[in-house]
Amino acid sequence: MQLDLESIESIEQAAAAVTKLLPEGLHALIGNAGANDQPKATFENLFVSSVHSSLKKTLLANDHIHRDLKLFSEELNLEIINNTVLIRAFLPLIRKSKAGKLIFISSILGSVELAAGMPTLNDAYAVSRAALNMLIRKWGGALKGEGIATAIIHPGKLNLSYLLPPTLEFSNAS
Ligand SMILES: NC(=O)c1ccc[n+]([C@@H]2O[C@H](COP(=O)([O-])OP(=O)(O)OC[C@H]3O[C@@H](n4cnc5c(N)ncnc54)[C@H](OP(=O)(O)O)[C@@H]3O)[C@@H](O)[C@H]2O)c1
Repeated sequence: MQLDLESIESIEQAAAAVTKLLPEGLHALIGNAGANDQPKATFENLFVSSVHSSLKKTLLANDHIHRDLKLFSEELNLEIINNTVLIRAFLPLIRKSKAGKLIFISSILGSVELAAGMPTLNDAYAVSRAALNMLIRKWGGALKGEGIATAIIHPGKLNLSYLLPPTLEFSNAS
């Protein structure tokens, strides 16, 4: 089953296909997709931080800065608009099951409480995760009366081979 969260058409096609497969409903929808496309960019240098300084002036002078503003906009769009479409598309199936659940993987970086203590850390991603958190909290309030549970999960830092040098191991998984 393919579902590209960037495509509203793909979300709707996947929901239609799952509806055929699961006439009695879907017990749980897990939203795992997330985008962290410019992790090293801070709000002040967002959009050009990964570029060598000698190139920055040229990029700014030529207005290429908007290329990455667009990327920021796409990240937010994915979290807010497309996850709304995702939930709406699968909600009829969730409602059909006896105790439906919506579970979304977020990040501690989206914590409003902790944000001030993590300046310049994954700024764009943090905003998009905070938006996701609010989206799911609001859905949770709306669906609670129907017996549908919602959860936002921070998985902790994941030991992904492409993020860590081979010699580095996690000692305290949380
Ligand atoms: N890594 C961490 O330390 C960490 C910490 C906190 C939270 N998280 C969160 O955990 C979740 C998974 O992260 P990860 O580190 O496992 O990332 P990852 O290895 O890059 O995996 C991302 C997953 O999202 C899917 N995905 C990406 N774009 C998608 C799209 N447009 N439509 C549908 N699926 C899409 C990918 O599917 P394909 O493989 O098919 O592309 C992949 O399964 C994310 O929400 C992330 O923000 C990660």
